Amino acid sequence: MDALASLCKRRGFIFRTSEIYGGINGFWDYGPLGAELKRNVKDAWWKATVRRREDVVGLDSAIIMHPRVWEASGHVGNFKDPMVDCRETKGRYRADQLMVLAPKGDDSGPLFAFHEGAPAPALKRAKKVLGRSTNEADFETSSLLDLPLDAFARLYGPDASEPGTLTEPRAFNLMFKTYVGPVEENSSVAYLRPETAQGIFAQFGNVLSTVRNKVPFGIAQIGKAFRNEINPRNYTFRSREFEQMELEYFIQPGTDAEMHEYWVNERLRWYEKVGLPQGRMHLDVHAEDALAHYASACTDITYDFPFGTQELEGIAARGDYDLTQHQNASGKKLEYHDEETKQTYVPHVIEPSAGVDRIALALLCEAYREEWIPKGGGEVRTAEPGAKRPPEGYEARTVLRFAPCIAPIKVAVLPLLKNKPELVAKAREIFGTLSNRWNCFYDQTGAIGRRYRRQDEVGTPLCVTIDFDTLENGTVTVRDRDTMEQIRIPADELEAHVAGIVEF
Ligand code: GAP
Repeated sequence: MDALASLCKRRGFIFRTSEIYGGINGFWDYGPLGAELKRNVKDAWWKATVRRREDVVGLDSAIIMHPRVWEASGHVGNFKDPMVDCRETKGRYRADQLMVLAPKGDDSGPLFAFHEGAPAPALKRAKKVLGRSTNEADFETSSLLDLPLDAFARLYGPDASEPGTLTEPRAFNLMFKTYVGPVEENSSVAYLRPETAQGIFAQFGNVLSTVRNKVPFGIAQIGKAFRNEINPRNYTFRSREFEQMELEYFIQPGTDAEMHEYWVNERLRWYEKVGLPQGRMHLDVHAEDALAHYASACTDITYDFPFGTQELEGIAARGDYDLTQHQNASGKKLEYHDEETKQTYVPHVIEPSAGVDRIALALLCEAYREEWIPKGGGEVRTAEPGAKRPPEGYEARTVLRFAPCIAPIKVAVLPLLKNKPELVAKAREIFGTLSNRWNCFYDQTGAIGRRYRRQDEVGTPLCVTIDFDTLENGTVTVRDRDTMEQIRIPADELEAHVAGIVEF
């Protein structure tokens, strides 16, 4: 992750926001290449979910909506995480992400809190406090939320040197509050949306009456969402401002299970197309007793990040809960009338809900490689972790092996020499043509090999070189990022050649 984060900063994918002022935790900026990467992710989703389907339409609703939307949706009452503070270190933690080690056979001894999945610091602290060597088998492990409050006095916080410094867990609403208009009073409170979905439910009636689609049909939206996360972490994975791509697919009651399965498969196929291999994607099917009372199914699509297997998207069968809530709260009918069967009902909904930033991060993790290239040709090797330099006869390269459809730069256009006006003019002409359709990069500085490496490092799938043969016979060389092989093709076939490789 460190090597990837450093590349992301150096090459302009991801920056800490307002870095010149020291940054602000949980907020990130996307640089020139990051902006392109995210745009490609969103375009690929919009194409697959809206453009190429007759049964889904798009929406772009406001970030700030009537506060009653969030009362009806349940967010004002329930969108809360349990939080604990440490009086000693001033650290703040999500209580549901903390675990506790308790020495076996000792009901009144010291207890040690740790971050889920990372018990090492707590074991170290236990060794010091108990005065003996410790390993995990000497302890019972439980969730902090299951700890009785009277045991908190014996509990060492994850970073504390004294026991009893953690506060009781208390519920913290994750919605950012603001005021609409000049007066900051209760009646002007509004919220930044914590999900884009509710904008879709609130406009269900208007959209239905404009498009006259028949059930099943969907409304899709891409946009910013905001959550005042207690513990933003893992780079951009859990942020306080992020983008969602959400679909509400309205269905006939009773078809929930089959439609849910359909969307899980559709979404898996999409992930594979944008470059996440099946082997590193998983389905986390929520157990029935863990579902919200209105939901009949929920499956998370997860990916093996370097920091653990984590959720990219949740696909939930939410029944008629959301539309019914808004219908009851607003007094406006949010029903569907089936002309054929003459039935009127509140449709059920399947909700695939994905995070753009998480997908972009997964794509970066998946694409990042350090490789050793044999100088005389032959098999490329994965660099050995920690090795300072490649073995004799090899050179090192860092490469982002993005699927071409999401690569930020599709084609680099490179005149062989910068001081030959004919080559430069031809290269500029080709750049002009290709950049009408795709994000391309023109580069005439440095040795050609070095220019290739710079493009490898940002994941550009194709490099086109314009040389003296181009002027003679109208052909160019096209170099492939992954195989590093070069082919010669007529310049007037270039656009079709590129399209065949880089389009989603
Ligand atoms: N409308 C349903 C909904 O919002 P969610 O599981 O809370 O469900 C959906 O969020 C997706 O949004 C997640 O799978 C994740 O990709 C993204 N997401 C949620 N919270 C996020 C955060 N703090 N930072 C980045 N992405 C987040």
